[in-house]
Amino acid sequence: MATMLGAVTSSHVPAIGGAIAKGMQQDPYFKPFFDGFPPVHAWLARAKPDVAVIFYNDHGLNFFLDKLPTFAVGAAPEYRNADEGWGIPTVRPFKGDPALSWHLIDALVADEFDITMCQEMLVDHALTLPMALLWPGGGEWPVRIVPIAMNHVQHPLPSLRRSWRLGQAVGRALEAWDEDARVVVLGTGGLSHQLDGRRAGFINKAFDAMCMDAIVDDPERLTRYSTHDLVREAGAQGTELMTWLAARGALTGRVSRIHSNYHIPISNTAAALMVLENHPQQAPQARAA
Ligand code: DHB
Ligand code: FE
Repeated sequence: MATMLGAVTSSHVPAIGGAIAKGMQQDPYFKPFFDGFPPVHAWLARAKPDVAVIFYNDHGLNFFLDKLPTFAVGAAPEYRNADEGWGIPTVRPFKGDPALSWHLIDALVADEFDITMCQEMLVDHALTLPMALLWPGGGEWPVRIVPIAMNHVQHPLPSLRRSWRLGQAVGRALEAWDEDARVVVLGTGGLSHQLDGRRAGFINKAFDAMCMDAIVDDPERLTRYSTHDLVREAGAQGTELMTWLAARGALTGRVSRIHSNYHIPISNTAAALMVLENHPQQAPQARAA
């Protein structure tokens, strides 16, 4: 039976890729951001995940305006990164877990989520940078991955409520996965930011603080925000909060906050990081009995 360990949620600002490549972790601009990660490394060293299910938003590398699925689940044996034109060095390929991908796809479709299934999928900075932050240092990635891409490019975007329910469906499917594997979920993006237009550079510290509290103890509170509410409160790209809520939805037990960090700004973004630990309430077999 799979063990759900918890969730790590992190910003994915492209500038982080350049900072990693140039070894600028101690640079005064980047230090308050990178200093958030050693406690995450310590938690991962204890949790020892085998696989990471990653809720992220593709920014036009794999999907573009011509074809844009609302939710897409990777089912590839390997996922490659490619040049996105931001100047981020590309990272080494990730190993997939096709058996888990197909288990999730079967469960999601049975649960009435009409997802797109992708046997080939390039992954962009929203997936590669959090992975590089969680497992720095090169070499083989220590986890297999299942990427779940959420539409954050073309409106209408999936609502927070739908994103939360997608995460819950993934959580139920993982609970029912008949494999002795240790699973972590990631949610990447956010928090408040707006990259263009009249409000470029917009950041809302009070709203971000509310989100970081609510995501622990009252995540359903966040599902009451419409996409338009969210754009107003968190900026046009603050809607990446959808990935955080999906990751939180996948935690089926009691949830505690192990660690968080928040720093303004990295590039245009209020960069935030959280580790949420999952404490299973009851073994699924016991519940079924
Ligand atoms: C920035 C933030 C993002 O989430 C992103 O995908 C691209 C750029 C930024 O703040 O520069
Ligand atoms: Fe982004």
